[in-house]
Amino acid sequence: MTRILILFAHPALDKSRIHRRLIHAVPELPGITLHDLYAAYPNFAIDVAREQELLLAHDLIIFQHPFYWYSTPAIIKQWEDLVLEHGWAYGSQGTALRGKRLLSLISTGGPAGTYRRDGYNRFTVRDLLAPIDQTAHLCGMEYLPPYLIQGTHSLTDADIDLEVGRYRQLLALLHEDRIDLAAAREQPSLNLALDRALGQQAPE
Ligand SMILES: Cc1cc2nc3c(=O)[nH]c(=O)nc-3n(C[C@H](O)[C@H](O)[C@H](O)COP(=O)(O)O)c2cc1C
Repeated sequence: MTRILILFAHPALDKSRIHRRLIHAVPELPGITLHDLYAAYPNFAIDVAREQELLLAHDLIIFQHPFYWYSTPAIIKQWEDLVLEHGWAYGSQGTALRGKRLLSLISTGGPAGTYRRDGYNRFTVRDLLAPIDQTAHLCGMEYLPPYLIQGTHSLTDADIDLEVGRYRQLLALLHEDRIDLAAAREQPSLNLALDRALGQQAPE
């Protein structure tokens, strides 16, 4: 069983259509922990010892958030700046996170087709996540391809219901080690690996 820590960041949850629904669908299982960073630290005063303890107690860390200005909401940067200490997370003595995995679970207003090198947003989501990829690498963690919910502005309530169901299945399957992460490594997103695990064809 993979122990999952969801580090959730949404600075305007009252306006959220997607994440507000997602976080209510997190399976209530021992070994899956939802941690709402803006709720825990409204003044950005991150409790470093508590966060490091949480990291040690889990195998897969998920940064879950809406894509804001092609990046994470600010509290995730604050969390990285304070929690990933030299001599703990990186450096010759900094081995606490080695062998763990990191996943970005992101919603984007822009539809998938805009995140191409010849598209409106000029970069893939994976390209834009390079600083997190390298941060994970420096800490000896494997950075998985991101799980993406895209084109959020045009999602209907029925579409969101489907996304909520897939999210719940994704977490349960990751928890049970039933997603083929080795095969997913070469993919632009983890979505295809979920389709495969669910026995579905990938959408064209
Ligand atoms: C401050 C702000 C910045 C945003 N930046 C981006 C962006 O860079 N790329 C993008 O595709 N969508 C962007 N969006 C759209 C959000 O990603 C989208 O509304 C969100 O993922 C929907 O999830 P929610 O309903 O849980 O808020 C931005 C929205 C806001 C409010």
